[in-house]
Amino acid sequence: MPADAHDWHDLRVDGDRLWQRLEALGEIGAVHGPNGERGSARLALTDLDREGRDLVVSWMGDLGMDIAIDAIGNVVATRAGSDPAAAPVMVGSHIDTVRTGGRFDGNLGVLAGLEIVETISQHGLTTRRPIQVAFFTDEEGARFAPDMLGSLVYVGGLAVEEALDVIAADDGARLGDELTRIGYAGPTPVPAAGYPHAYAELHIEQGPILEDEGVTIGVVTGVQGISWTEVTVTGQSAHAGTTPMQLRHDAMAVAARIIHEVRLISGYLGSPQVATVGMLAVTPNLVNVVPSKVVFTIDLRNTEERRLKDAEAQVFAACHAFAGDEGCEITLRTLARFEPVEFDNDMIDLVESTAQRLGHTTKRMPSGAGHDAQMLARVCPTSMVFVPSVDGLSHNIAEYTGPDDVTAGANVLLQVVLDRAAD
Ligand code: GLV
Ligand code: MN
Ligand code: MN
Repeated sequence: MPADAHDWHDLRVDGDRLWQRLEALGEIGAVHGPNGERGSARLALTDLDREGRDLVVSWMGDLGMDIAIDAIGNVVATRAGSDPAAAPVMVGSHIDTVRTGGRFDGNLGVLAGLEIVETISQHGLTTRRPIQVAFFTDEEGARFAPDMLGSLVYVGGLAVEEALDVIAADDGARLGDELTRIGYAGPTPVPAAGYPHAYAELHIEQGPILEDEGVTIGVVTGVQGISWTEVTVTGQSAHAGTTPMQLRHDAMAVAARIIHEVRLISGYLGSPQVATVGMLAVTPNLVNVVPSKVVFTIDLRNTEERRLKDAEAQVFAACHAFAGDEGCEITLRTLARFEPVEFDNDMIDLVESTAQRLGHTTKRMPSGAGHDAQMLARVCPTSMVFVPSVDGLSHNIAEYTGPDDVTAGANVLLQVVLDRAAD
């Protein structure tokens, strides 16, 4: 690190280079919409996820970083610091996507990390602490629940053996088998042997608030609680023409009542309660057969644990009552349950003061989406930097954040990292 802090205070990333990497990674699993939308579909541990990983790992290698792949497939690349005994400053995120993914969700945090390392190296700086850039396995949880799975294992919140045994929601594959198949079951043990000095993650907001208020940088204070439940309703298949209504055990009728009730409950509880039924599978799924089985998911989120528990209690009671009314069986399986997380006050202040020093408007806000940062917050001081999402869209191939906002966020991240790496 130069003796004079003003030297590194003036350092800025190369926004074009970062943008080019975003474009190149986005081409892997590219999805195009009818109105020019450009997204990516790289579900965790698929062949396309492997291609994305290989590209990012090759960039890490080009930057001369030391690359470690752990037993759950998290990849952590390290740029050495001058003090070999000092704990590193870590930045990162994820590069897996949902099926309708955009090109920024997760990818931005990882590629901004690489851009930071390249900028620092190009200027011949040596930081006291090492800098690490990580991408964590299966942040989305869309294929293998829970979400943030790799970072949860990294911090010791889930045993690696248990994580490797998770079965995919869509194709029934076992996580550990898929990880081995794509060549990312690495030799580094998890949980990690030591934790970072600090963790910072740049991410798109994925909601409408920053754009709506004309603010460039969201200073993230924490992440709301998440509750994912898989509901299985089992009734009896029967002939749609001959079976009187009062004699049916119709799994779909139960599911429909529950789904409607989920919406009503989130309405009574009011903001910030949100509730989503995003997945539903019907058996036998035929026009003239009363459904014998419906499996669907319920995603409930709230910034307050007490209110999230209240929502869960009401929804779960409705599940049992409606199944009982129809003479159906019902089982509820927890797929993910994370309490709300508050980030470290000093890290929050640092993100805010850094963004303001760089001349940006800021707003303190909780995150509505789950992030790897909420897991790292269990083991080290953590915060996040948000940049605006056009039209508030994410998990949609129309997801977009303009190059100026991307560059602004990356510069805030750069300065936060340099500050912590000198600590
Ligand atoms: C995962 O990132 C989620 O918020 O669903
Ligand atoms: Mn994300
Ligand atoms: Mn996401």
